[in-house]
Amino acid sequence: MSIPPIRVLAIESSCDETAAAILENGRTLLGTSVASQMEIHARYGGVFPEVASRQHILSVVPVVEQTLAQAHLSLDEIDAIAVTRGPGLAGSLLVGLNMAKGLALGLNLPLVGVNHLEAHIYSAWVMMPNVEPTDEPEFPLLALLVSGGHTELNLMTNHLEYQRLGWTQDDAAGEAFDKVARLLHLGYPGGPSIQKAAEEGNPDRFQFPRSWMEGSHHFSFSGIKTAVLRQVQKLENVSSNIESEYPSLPINDLAASFQKAVVDVLFTKTMKAAREFDAKQILIAGGVSANQSLRYAFASQNEFPVNIPDISLCTDNAAMVGTAGYYRFINEHNDPLSIDVLSTWPLS
Ligand code: KG4
Ligand code: ZN
Repeated sequence: MSIPPIRVLAIESSCDETAAAILENGRTLLGTSVASQMEIHARYGGVFPEVASRQHILSVVPVVEQTLAQAHLSLDEIDAIAVTRGPGLAGSLLVGLNMAKGLALGLNLPLVGVNHLEAHIYSAWVMMPNVEPTDEPEFPLLALLVSGGHTELNLMTNHLEYQRLGWTQDDAAGEAFDKVARLLHLGYPGGPSIQKAAEEGNPDRFQFPRSWMEGSHHFSFSGIKTAVLRQVQKLENVSSNIESEYPSLPINDLAASFQKAVVDVLFTKTMKAAREFDAKQILIAGGVSANQSLRYAFASQNEFPVNIPDISLCTDNAAMVGTAGYYRFINEHNDPLSIDVLSTWPLS
């Protein structure tokens, strides 16, 4: 007799994407739907928390319904409900968690609260539909987590087991992309717009400082953001002295030089830690892992196998929550219906 598959319905609402997904046996994505609020927040140049939670309320039910329809499943074919419990915006997290609690209570299903950072790491296990099955990542692996709120290196020794090696002492890498984009009057979110501007720029025109945080696995990105600001002020000064004859700011070169410096630090420090801890492979996750220049840097070395998720799984999504939720569920890490959201929640 064959063992019936385990299907997890997952919900993600930690920031500005309302997403749901259904995963079978942890890795196979059966259906997913995302309602993005990006255009709404672009008007404010960043995520407006109260607007975000209200949008989640409008989107969460349709997103779950669309996901079930896409997977051709009904709620009685689901075995567990996974949901992002934190870290993130409390008002946003509450919407997803309350939806998940309602489903778990109404269907009498287990509830699994998932750490959003763990979920990003588990995006490496997700298999997209119509894509050749891939091998599971091997432990110990070195995970670089680079998103809008976090930049950290974790040694993952087994499923759900992490040793936090280093983290940013100030801005996250994604946050630096967003702040520099604002400075250069590029659109929100900053990462994709800096990447686009950098395509036409000279990455060697400006030598922005790299903060190596020697002797530790920590990061710091506030210095480079300030260096870009100083450079812009210097160029604007020159420009206003020469009046209209001076060309406008070299946005593309500034973007390319900034991106090169950030990628340099992320790449070099990750490689160093992977060597030190004898990692079997490197795993990169989080919104900034969508960056082409970062992906290229890791693809250009052959010292370690590198696992970077499909672009659609780099930024916030529910598939990764479903996969992390599945591994928590089969390891009996279920949660009571009384759990609250955790706006800060370190991985280890
Ligand atoms: O993981 P994510 O969607 O949300 C958080 O958990 O924070 O990451 C969002 C971050 C933003 O800072 C965004 O600017 C950055 O990821 N990002 C990128 C790229 N795409 C998104 N950064 C650099 N290059 C990109 N292509
Ligand atoms: Zn995220």
